[in-house]
Formats: sequence, structure tokens, C-alpha cells
Amino acid sequence: MDAYIVKGGAPLKGMVTIGGAKNAALGILAGAIMADSTVSIDNVPNVRDTGVMLQAIEGIGAKVQHVYSNSVQINGTGITNIDVEYDYIRRIRASYYLLGALLGKYHEASVALPGGCAIGSRPIDQHLKGFRALGASVDLDHGMIYAKAEHLHGAHIYFDVVSVGATINLMLAACMADGYTVLENVAKEPHIVDVANFLNAMGADIRGAGTDVIRINGVRRLHGTTYSIIPDQIEAGTFMAGAAITHGDVTVNNVIPKHLECISAKLAEMGCTVIEDDESVRVIGAERLRPANVKTLPYPGFPTDMQPQITVALSLADGSSLVTESIFENRFKYVDELNRMGAHIQVEGNTAYVTGVSQLTGAQLAAPDLRAGAALVMAALSADGFSKIEDIHFIQRGYEDFVGKLRGLGAKIEEVDDDYKERKFKLRYA
Ligand code: UD1
Repeated sequence: MDAYIVKGGAPLKGMVTIGGAKNAALGILAGAIMADSTVSIDNVPNVRDTGVMLQAIEGIGAKVQHVYSNSVQINGTGITNIDVEYDYIRRIRASYYLLGALLGKYHEASVALPGGCAIGSRPIDQHLKGFRALGASVDLDHGMIYAKAEHLHGAHIYFDVVSVGATINLMLAACMADGYTVLENVAKEPHIVDVANFLNAMGADIRGAGTDVIRINGVRRLHGTTYSIIPDQIEAGTFMAGAAITHGDVTVNNVIPKHLECISAKLAEMGCTVIEDDESVRVIGAERLRPANVKTLPYPGFPTDMQPQITVALSLADGSSLVTESIFENRFKYVDELNRMGAHIQVEGNTAYVTGVSQLTGAQLAAPDLRAGAALVMAALSADGFSKIEDIHFIQRGYEDFVGKLRGLGAKIEEVDDDYKERKFKLRYA
């Protein structure tokens, strides 16, 4: 089984270039099928989730051409099939964006209902409420969502919860609806703005993305365009946290520092030196981190997708910290793994009580989900001795060339698929 083997103790030092935002890419790739000519998309992160989305798009009849590893061309004019199979939904929940895109363009879509997920129950009631408000009938039958609209029209939709997925799905559907749509209480994440900018580049008329209210004038057609995806806030944040966790000195390049402010501020509060430049942020770790309290919130609050990474950093701080998870109820699964490395963390409900220790020790670990998996790798890089991290397919969903980038920063890490490679690694770094 594929795993990462890590020898801890070397601080991460140097520069790392951040790729395109996975969560923006998933909305953008789905939206690209709505154009009536070819769309070229650059800075697509070459990770498992985008690969599955591209397969799902091909599966319904769109043409996908890989120009090079981070650039694709999509032409959706040949779509004949409005059914997105369960197999894709099972592998990435975000394939439900094809529901919004197909409904917007073809007024009909059929997509398997996404199931539960490792980080908690994830309802999609807000997506469905929005589609219904646009005039679609939405039926759930045998695990499928079937949405159809004789006349897709603008509507005033007030979301009951702030949802990234519902905001993107409704922008996709409403941008080709007949008339004016207002979306209120929307998510404001950088990838929301990026998806809106992309749709506007194809001829949509979407205003207000990045604020609480998005206003959309429906258009009859969307045309081809060339678009480059923004840098990934969470990939950048993970390497920034890595600098703090390993007492390192890491410059993340090709980023938008404004998108990272909530992470930069927390790391500075914990005693790191954070230096922002136009397109880079440098984080110099402290000798000993200070404790801090963290509460995850929708953007511009502290991202839930950075909660495990910051908790690993706090587990090494000089004192006690509280981490409150307010977005997903089951996002502390990795804590048992971290405690096996010598951390002192107790979870009660949605709060983790963290008592800092001065050193973690290497252990055999399993990644419970994408971000927690990356956080455990960072913990292993700081720990005394060897660690092995299994279930790395979760990590590969969202980090392009994670091992290569970490090694570029001096990490001792290798992907292994048999005992022989593991023994060789251990001998090399004994
Ligand atoms: C997206 C991100 C994910 C990130 C999350 C929060 C993608 C592909 N994934 O997930 O990495 O962790 O945003 O930043 O972009 N909710 C409802 N009803 C709904 C929809 C959501 O109650 O119809 C709730 C969820 O259970 C959760 C909260 O709203 O408690 C936020 O979820 P949402 O923003 O929708 O997350 P995702 O879009 O699934």
C-alpha cells in the first residue's frame, strides 16, 4: 500500500511555488461546459480531485484536451448526456457542480446524491432550495437528484447557512437563467470570486462576488475564453504552517497575500515572523510557539481547511490553546493519531483543548481525510524519529507533488509502496 515515510527533525527551509486553487478549479471546470465554444483554463492543479472532475465532464460527452499538465481545454458543445454517474460523485462531492452547470445550460440534470464524508454530515438542502427557487422541479429518487426546469428564471434566494458549494452551484445555474437573481448570505471565499470572474469572462453578468450579496443578470449564451485559476489559499497555508511546526523558514511564492491574512495573523500571534511581499509570504518559525485560540469561520475567518494544520502547530506551543470547529462537526478525527505522537489534545464536542508539548515522536499513522493528512505529514516532519503515513490517497486529492515540494524545502520524505523501499529509506537516514 502506498504510504509516506518521513524522518523528522529537519526544519523546512526555502521557497515553494503554490499551484492553482483546487476548490476554484472544481467550480470552473464544471462551469466551462456551459460555453458554446472552447474554453482554455490555465493553472489547473494536477491533483486527483480535478482529474476526477475532468473524467466526469468527459463522461457526459464534453471534449477535454490536456494542453500540458496544468492547462486544459474544454468544449462542452458535444454534451448529449445529462446524467452524472454515482462513481464520480462517490469520488468527489464537488461533481455536484455539474448539476448547476447542466441545469443552467440544458435546463435538466441528473446527478447521484453525494453521500456522507469523513468530516461530517454534509447536507445539500441549500443547493436544492436554490434550484427550486429558479423554477426547477427537484426530485430525489433511488439515490439520484433529478432537476428539470421548463423555464429557468431569476429569483431572490436567501441562504440559511453560508455555503461555498451552494453559492457556486447557484451562480452556475442562475447565470443562464431568464432574468435577475439575487443571492443573499453567500460565501465570500476567494474561490467564489474566482468562479464568478471566470463566468464573467465567458460573458456572464455576475456582480458582488466576495460580498454577502451576489446579483446576477441571466444571459442567453456563454462563450469561450482563456482563464488562469487563482493560487490555492490552503496549499499555501499548509506550507506556512509547516514552517511554524518545523521551526523553519519558508517563502510561499505565487500567492495572493490578502487571501492568506487570516493565516498570517494567527501565525504572527503565535510568535512567527511573517513577511508579506507582492506575490509571496515568508514565514520564519519561532524557537517555541506561543499558544492561541482558533475558531473556524467562513471567509474572511480562519478556514476550516486549515484547522488540522494549525492544531498541529498549537500542539507544540508553550501553553494551552482552544480550537473550535464551527463548520464541520467531525473534523477532529486526526487528534487520536496526533496524541499517539505524544500530543496532549482532548476533544469535547466541537472544541479541542490543546496542551502544548515540546516535542512529538514519530509513529505509524493513517490520514483520515485530505487536510488532516497533510497536517499529520507536517507533524511527522517535526517529530523525533521515523513516521509512516498511510492512506495518502486522501492527501493526493488536493496537493500536487506534495513530496517533491517538501523535499525542495529539505524534508526527508519519500513515497513508498513496499517494505524494501521503506527499509532503504530508514537505512539512508539512520
Ligand atoms: C467547501 C470546500 C471545503 C471546505 C468548505 C468550507 C470545495 C470543493 N470544498 O465544501 O474544502 O471545507 O467549503 O470552507 O470547495 N451546509 C448545509 N446545507 C447545504 C450546504 C452546506 O447545511 O446545502 C452546511 C455544511 O454542512 C457545513 C456548512 O454549511 O456545515 C459549510 O459547508 P459548505 O461551505 O457548503 O462546504 P462545501 O461546499 O461542501
